Amino acid sequence: MTQINENYSLKKYNTFGVDVKARYFATPQSIQEIIDILENKRECFPFMIIGEGSNILFTRDFNGLVLKPAIRGIKIISSDREHCYAEVGAGENWDEFVHWAVESNLAGVENLSLIPGSAGSSPIQNIGAYGAEVSDIIEKVNYLDLETLEIKSLPAGECHFGYRTSIFKYQLKNRIVITSVIFRLNTAHIYNTTYGNLQEEVEKMGDLSLATVRQAVINIRNSKLPDPKIIGNAGSFFKNPVLGKEVACKIRQNYSSMPFYNLPGDLVKIPAGWLIEQCGWKGKKTGNAGVHDKQALVLVNHGNATGMEIKELAGKIMESVYEKFSIRLEPEVNII
Ligand code: FAD
Ligand code: EPU
Repeated sequence: MTQINENYSLKKYNTFGVDVKARYFATPQSIQEIIDILENKRECFPFMIIGEGSNILFTRDFNGLVLKPAIRGIKIISSDREHCYAEVGAGENWDEFVHWAVESNLAGVENLSLIPGSAGSSPIQNIGAYGAEVSDIIEKVNYLDLETLEIKSLPAGECHFGYRTSIFKYQLKNRIVITSVIFRLNTAHIYNTTYGNLQEEVEKMGDLSLATVRQAVINIRNSKLPDPKIIGNAGSFFKNPVLGKEVACKIRQNYSSMPFYNLPGDLVKIPAGWLIEQCGWKGKKTGNAGVHDKQALVLVNHGNATGMEIKELAGKIMESVYEKFSIRLEPEVNII
């Protein structure tokens, strides 16, 4: 029987390091343990699922049951000449899986090195970095339906993956628990080192290999993103806004240095970090909350910030970006 803790501090379970409490907290180790809790503990409603809390901002105590699935295991379930299919338990750490794939000489996840969080959360916002998205290599997502307690499976084509989005972030939010993900890894090595200074960094590491790409990504990330063990944060607080080309051109008439990336369908993506920096927020501190000095898209907890303080800072940033550029930033982080 899974132990259910009462009035449990979540400080260690969110990378912002915000000190809030859950009325109940449990870490079920298997699907059966989750089902047992759901069948026997209806009085613990509402429920909330967490992974490693690296994309959550708690603004208050949670008056219900927080479930942190600890379903483990990485196993190869099938393979052919080109691919190897690995089923990874939701509770496995994402970067340990990436390390395993690189050590096993399997390609496809190396650009996603060092992203915090669990493997089970990776499809939720379709994690992405350095020119790759996890949806590129997801075959299937297995989940438990919280209403019917049935185990179901969704092929990647039905997951509605997009930039930092999926069916799990919206339509299925709070209605399911992802239990495992099946990844399609490549036996051939096709490298993607076109993002930013990745190619240059790989060359410093030595010959092109899965291991050198992984190390190069780790080095770049470490040079700009704060380590949540040292300074609380949840990575990019906002999504990069996507605008119509015409709208972006109008803004560029006044701000000719505004960077942008072309997307299909006459759309462009603008780096929110640039917009925030232009508004003068980079490195700024308000009370215990602040904006990282090396990457303006990252909000940080300088000590004992409350979730509300960080949320208020985010609100002020959104206002000033709107005032200056008429662009509405949308939080990437799940605000609870
Ligand atoms: P949590 O934060 O615990 O949960 C996120 C959401 O998923 C919540 O809504 C939660 O309810 C839900 N959830 C979690 N597990 C399950 C489950 N098993 N079933 C159903 N719902 C569930 N993201 C990127 O995309 N790219 C980056 O480069 C990147 N860099 C980051 C750098 C830093 C320093 C940090 C702190 C974060 C970064 N992130 C990045 C964000 C974060 O790493 C990802 O969003 C990650 O996938 C979150 O995983 P988690 O296990 O911590 O999820
Ligand atoms: N920039 C600034 N000032 C800043 C930060 C960025 O001007 O303070 C501009 C620069 O022009 C820079 C550009 O923004 O060249 C892009 O910056 P960076 O390469 O750091 O990437 P990003 O767009 O800020 C995105 C993701 C990250 C991901 C990196 C690398 C989003 C919301 N964020 O950040 O993901 O790691 O690209 O691929 O898409 C996350 O989602 O939590 C996250 C960290």
